[in-house]
Amino acid sequence: LQTLRPIQLAHKYFELFPEQKDPLWQNPCDDRRHRDIWSRDKTCGHLPKFLVIGPQKTGTTALYLFLLMHPSIISNLPNPKTFEEVQFFNGNNYHKGIDWYMNFFPTPLNITADVLFEKSASYFHSEDAPKRAASLIPKAKIITILIDPSDRAYSWYQHQRSHEDSTALKFNFYEVIASNDGAPSELKGLQKKCLIPGWYAVHIERWLKYFPSSQLLIIDGQQLRSDPAATMDGVQKFLSVAPHYNYSDALTFDPQKGFWCQLLDGGKIKCLGKSKGRKYPPMDQESRAFLSNYYRDHNVELSKLLHRLGQPLPSWLRQELQKLR
Ligand code: A3P
Repeated sequence: LQTLRPIQLAHKYFELFPEQKDPLWQNPCDDRRHRDIWSRDKTCGHLPKFLVIGPQKTGTTALYLFLLMHPSIISNLPNPKTFEEVQFFNGNNYHKGIDWYMNFFPTPLNITADVLFEKSASYFHSEDAPKRAASLIPKAKIITILIDPSDRAYSWYQHQRSHEDSTALKFNFYEVIASNDGAPSELKGLQKKCLIPGWYAVHIERWLKYFPSSQLLIIDGQQLRSDPAATMDGVQKFLSVAPHYNYSDALTFDPQKGFWCQLLDGGKIKCLGKSKGRKYPPMDQESRAFLSNYYRDHNVELSKLLHRLGQPLPSWLRQELQKLR
């Protein structure tokens, strides 16, 4: 019998079992054997009870702000590197381990009533996030927001231009979405990132492989934008949070911003910043037609999926389906 020093032993282990190099974290408190050797200084109360998974540009920040207004809902502490979002389940941060993740969550004052959550808008289309999230927080509820994927793509493109992405500044929207295989790789890369999150049914099916549909809420982003109080009533019901918070009294429509905003004590109004609800020209007709065609099959699949889940179709989807008749 032979042994090695810990680090060498670890190297040896992964040489023998290379498939285990990619970790899949589980909740240490779910298994007695793990709980027993888990440090006393640690708790499993630092894990979220729900995730807002995106996709980007559908109103995720507005939902985040509205959720924070609720007295029992508490978000993660910001990650300065990723514009507040933790982005744990989708990328390399996952390899930093669950202590790294748990440190983003404050200790809830009332462990039974307080509901921790995080919003990372790129979880939605991530290949890895559903499996990883289901392994660590299998009971978590999952919230996604959908708007017309064509509008989402256009908003995303405008976002890239505002952030001075050189490719988005160089090419117009139609050139980005309609670029063909011979196009420069930077343009193809931007096109993928712009269009793929809009394959809604593909991504939702991936989440449903790991989470039961009763744990998934699909929000109509158009309703979130036009009637957030009604949307937030649905969200509260889905999350079973108490007390019931009356968003009708706490939100006000700001005509200057053109969006619903938070009404603060003393009558002041807090809207989202300039980067949310940007002013830009409407999408050109050629791009609209291209995208309507591009997303046709994906939208048909989404309608079947919503039908299966017993959910109503959002109005943009009904309009897209009517174009097929
Ligand atoms: P635009 O800036 O293209 O209009 P996200 O937060 O996921 O990045 O989404 C940004 C989008 O949220 C905005 O896109 C805007 O249309 C939408 N939105 C919905 N409700 C909003 C609100 N109350 N305030 C600001 N933007 C809101």
